[in-house]
Amino acid sequence: MDTLTYNQCEIRFGNLKDSGFNDLLASPRYAQSKKIIITDSNVFDLWMEDFITSFPAVSEAEIIQLPPGEENKVLDICQHVWEALSEYEIGRGDLIINFGGGVITDMGGFIAATFKRGLSFINIPTTLLSQVDASVGGKTGIDLGPFKNQIGVFADPDFVFIDSRYLTTLPDVELDSGFAEMLKHGLIADAEYWNDLQAINPKLIPAGLIKTIYRSVEIKRQIVTEDHLEKGLRKNLNFGHTIGHAIEGFCLSKDAAIPHGFAVAWGMLAESFISLQKGLIIQTMFDEINKTIRKRYTKLNLTENDLEEIKPLLLNDKKNVGGVISFTLLTEIGKAVHNQEVTAEQIDAGLCFILS
Ligand code: GLY
Repeated sequence: MDTLTYNQCEIRFGNLKDSGFNDLLASPRYAQSKKIIITDSNVFDLWMEDFITSFPAVSEAEIIQLPPGEENKVLDICQHVWEALSEYEIGRGDLIINFGGGVITDMGGFIAATFKRGLSFINIPTTLLSQVDASVGGKTGIDLGPFKNQIGVFADPDFVFIDSRYLTTLPDVELDSGFAEMLKHGLIADAEYWNDLQAINPKLIPAGLIKTIYRSVEIKRQIVTEDHLEKGLRKNLNFGHTIGHAIEGFCLSKDAAIPHGFAVAWGMLAESFISLQKGLIIQTMFDEINKTIRKRYTKLNLTENDLEEIKPLLLNDKKNVGGVISFTLLTEIGKAVHNQEVTAEQIDAGLCFILS
């Protein structure tokens, strides 16, 4: 079994049934803890029976089942879960197990980190997006209207278990969505990895992605080990997200949510175009990114009028300082640079480019 660690968190890769998961929960560290599983109704229907019957240590766990989807990553749902935890008389020594995609690991981590000032939690991500990004690195939180992840805390899980079997029931669109974050890892940190990814169609080999997922998590782990609280280097992980989050938040506010990775993919293209305009990246590298994104991701259904509503959303990006919109941009494939000021004209051009 492959493992990676950062801070106090251990990440284990491979079949959960061979991962020591049950022994861990039965060990003195957690034996006396009440276990609460937070999941969504999709994962519950597909995997909960397998989960409960495979691991005796969770057979008595309370299960909290939430409605799926980004539109439910909100305070109201947290309130219901905190109330349920109170009813179950959950205390600081108990354990939350987040079993689901990015919404569950982000929100479940936030619920755990804030209930009674912090419970331990374990993430078992079931989507590609959550396996390569959301479940690792300690960012927990919820959305505030159209603003993604505006409320949250840094809190690391004790363990993350990454099992690519869960990807076999994932809709194709979710595999493509998670793949965008993997492309991002190549673009910001590893040109060779970016090249390797060109040959991969995640929809053809979901369970066989584990080695590739490992490489993505390795890249992310290296960055969050150096800069957990995002004072500098970790901002590189936000490449594509300044514009991506604004697009995603806009679509969410129109009740037309799009998968996170699709927004990030087009956000990466817009931000690559900005990198080109600023003379940071050369044309041939930009052309390669342009070709890859347009080949893999269906065009966004946005109009020029929509762009006028999207632009103000950029002002609330968490990387901004003193009202200045700050971007992470590319200097080459495999290298990013953060804290880059961009003019309103360059943002306009980047947004128009992805509509073209
Ligand atoms: N998803 C970006 C980060 O964890 O920093």
